[in-house]
Amino acid sequence: MNPPGNEYIMGRTSQEYQRLRSQARVWEPVTRRLLGRLELRAGMSCLDVGCGPGEVMRVLGEIAGPTGRVAGLDVDGNLGREALGVLQATTPCRFTFTDGNVETLEEIPGAPFDVTYARITLVHVRDPIAVLRKMYAWTKPGGYIVVQEYDNCSLTVYPEWPGMVELEKVLGGVYAKAGRDQFLGRKLPTCFDEAGIGPPDGSEVASELGPFSQYGPMCKAVYSSLLPIALKTGITSGADSEAYFREVEKALSESKYTVLFPLLVGVWKRKPA
Ligand SMILES: C[S@@+](CC[C@H](N)C(=O)[O-])C[C@H]1O[C@@H](n2cnc3c(N)ncnc32)[C@H](O)[C@@H]1O
Repeated sequence: MNPPGNEYIMGRTSQEYQRLRSQARVWEPVTRRLLGRLELRAGMSCLDVGCGPGEVMRVLGEIAGPTGRVAGLDVDGNLGREALGVLQATTPCRFTFTDGNVETLEEIPGAPFDVTYARITLVHVRDPIAVLRKMYAWTKPGGYIVVQEYDNCSLTVYPEWPGMVELEKVLGGVYAKAGRDQFLGRKLPTCFDEAGIGPPDGSEVASELGPFSQYGPMCKAVYSSLLPIALKTGITSGADSEAYFREVEKALSESKYTVLFPLLVGVWKRKPA
């Protein structure tokens, strides 16, 4: 295993890919709402940085239509190519995919774009400011840079749930070990400024609230994806993780708890024409 700092902390398992698709379903209405606030049009060109399973590429493709184009970029080539195959077969738009690391890539085919977009990607890179700078350089004058990122400040299970301490320990512990910022969402305006983009033109901040039966499985899936690093680096133990999974099962059988999701903070800026 690579040292923390160089790896994708959620791992690359089929369970994690499934979790990414479930997560995308949760946030699709929020992303659509955010994109609906911009002056987007058929025929536009878009780039989705860290496109993962391609769910936002699909949404962008629906807006851009058959005369538009949507490029995906992801360091996970297998996931991106699979997404590309599905998109090309189902959504009338011109889709492409680049297998690459946004931190080391200097150029991307198709740049500049009318929209450069990233969701829950900056939190996984070493230098989010450098990536923002790059995204802005790949944006056409008059085009948009749009970013949505997590801020874990709101993550709560109510009433007090015995599994929460372990979830926070592993979530906070792995992020810190890897040098990732679990409160990046609130810092996006500052990050835009630091990257030379200037203050965002607007923001869209959202969360989700639902019964444990609906969102408890996500608490389990996030924890499970982080667990290999947490065990390897001594953030948690086998016994603590087994106790956590027991608490999840107990809560799922009790219908007494409510889960409040992390915030998804979205910001955008239109590049001067
Ligand atoms: C949490 S997923 C989000 C996927 C997608 N944006 C979404 O919201 O559904 C983060 C994605 O960023 C990709 N990623 C992480 N670091 C990257 C990098 N340095 N360059 C390109 N992609 C990266 C991961 O492979 C993963 O697919």
